[in-house]
Amino acid sequence: MPSLPDLLPTHSSAVAFARGQHVRFLEELKALLRIPSISALPMYAGDVRRAAEFLVAELSRIGMEHVRLIESTGHPLVYADWLHASGQPVCLTYGHYDVQPPDPLDEWQSSPFEPVERNGNIYARGAVDDKGQMYMHLKALESLFHAHQGTLPVNVRIILEGEEETGGEAIAQFLRDHPEEVEADFALVSDTELFAPSLPTLCVGLRGMIYTEIEVCGARTDLHSGVYGGSAPNPLIALSQIIAALKDAEGRILIPGIYDRVTAPDAAELASWKNLPFDEDVYRNTEVGAKELVGEPGYSVLERTWARPSLDVHGITGGFTGAGAKTVIPAKATAKISLRLAPEMQPQETFEQLKKRVERVRPRGVEVEVRLIHAGDPVVVQTGNRYIRAAQRALRAVFDKEVVFVRSGGSIPIVADFERYLKIPTVMMGFGLPDDNLHAPNEKFCIANFHLGIESIILFLEGVAQGEEPGREAPTG
Ligand code: BES
Ligand code: MN
Ligand code: MN
Repeated sequence: MPSLPDLLPTHSSAVAFARGQHVRFLEELKALLRIPSISALPMYAGDVRRAAEFLVAELSRIGMEHVRLIESTGHPLVYADWLHASGQPVCLTYGHYDVQPPDPLDEWQSSPFEPVERNGNIYARGAVDDKGQMYMHLKALESLFHAHQGTLPVNVRIILEGEEETGGEAIAQFLRDHPEEVEADFALVSDTELFAPSLPTLCVGLRGMIYTEIEVCGARTDLHSGVYGGSAPNPLIALSQIIAALKDAEGRILIPGIYDRVTAPDAAELASWKNLPFDEDVYRNTEVGAKELVGEPGYSVLERTWARPSLDVHGITGGFTGAGAKTVIPAKATAKISLRLAPEMQPQETFEQLKKRVERVRPRGVEVEVRLIHAGDPVVVQTGNRYIRAAQRALRAVFDKEVVFVRSGGSIPIVADFERYLKIPTVMMGFGLPDDNLHAPNEKFCIANFHLGIESIILFLEGVAQGEEPGREAPTG
């Protein structure tokens, strides 16, 4: 990899400033990564708050205004703005400072909350998802303030949440209740990936999701499996039968109605996916690491993961799983099951369809309850706007390559809300890599991408301010 300063000439003094701050920017990120802000585990609520306070202090220090913690029934939001670029659009930048639990811990080569540099990467839980990427926004803003004499080229509001990984209730509520407080012309999200290393990428679609829990109850208490085996219902077997009835052997989802709303991407988008540098064997070997890929017949891997619904089981509990043997018929079994929703699918409707299917295939002798834990809408963003074009220009300048448009199979529930409640387009400019191990042991962020991301965001915001008239010169700071 060439050293960063050789990569590209630029006339942005904000970029020049950022290039002089590589060491400090990364050390600051490490301090943030040391805070175990795990939103799913109540024990860590204090740490989640500590991460929010870290960001409040940092936003104040770099020159943002109206910096505040917004309390919620869950984890706090962080808000700040700077709105003095008169005549310029308002950018709403979003990120999340919470992280996934780090387990299984013994699979980590270094401790998840003690960031270390190895082979040009920084390893830590949250390195790429999303603390590292969110922090790029702060460092881009700091560089802009520095280079533009304490001002920004565009207006900026920033909103950060601490419970994206658990469904994002607080921010969704805030957007519904106070849309005027986050009024903006476009949103900027860095929580996605490059399609391949050094390939500048804009993500234009995300799947939605419903996350559910199925509880199956049989006898009134655990029973001796010798005394009662043969007459008492077994919830684990019933649960397995229910799960087995949700998908056929080829990978189709067996929930009636599930595919009704799904529409194929248009021909141009499908054609552009065919041009992406994607090798199914490499994907199977290096990313997935399985003998064979599975999924709906008749669709490519990219279609299956980006444009079709999918169903997965995340965990099953019940009965005895310790060492040795215990002869018990458990009274109860549960499973965590989620569905990813393709564009146009509706979370509530999908949940009703799932419930109906489960009720329909419920074996005799057990009671079943299906609970919705959280839900988020799918989204496809519009690309024919000046913000996407400015993003393309900025990425092309930094990476010296034409930008590709992709979708992602993952979910960021708030992006659909930006479209729905604020009626604004979102630019999803992320710098993760396919092998960054998000949600898995040994999560990492490529350090070069951290710095290139900062430069891209700087040039993007400067480019938005410049507008689209040909021949206009970039402001120099
Ligand atoms: N940043 C991810 C989503 C993502 C990953 C988008 C990779 C594009 C590429 C986000 O933090 C995430 O993990 N979201 C959750 C959804 C949430 C409601 C639990 C997900 O997709 O599982
Ligand atoms: Mn994320
Ligand atoms: Mn995540």
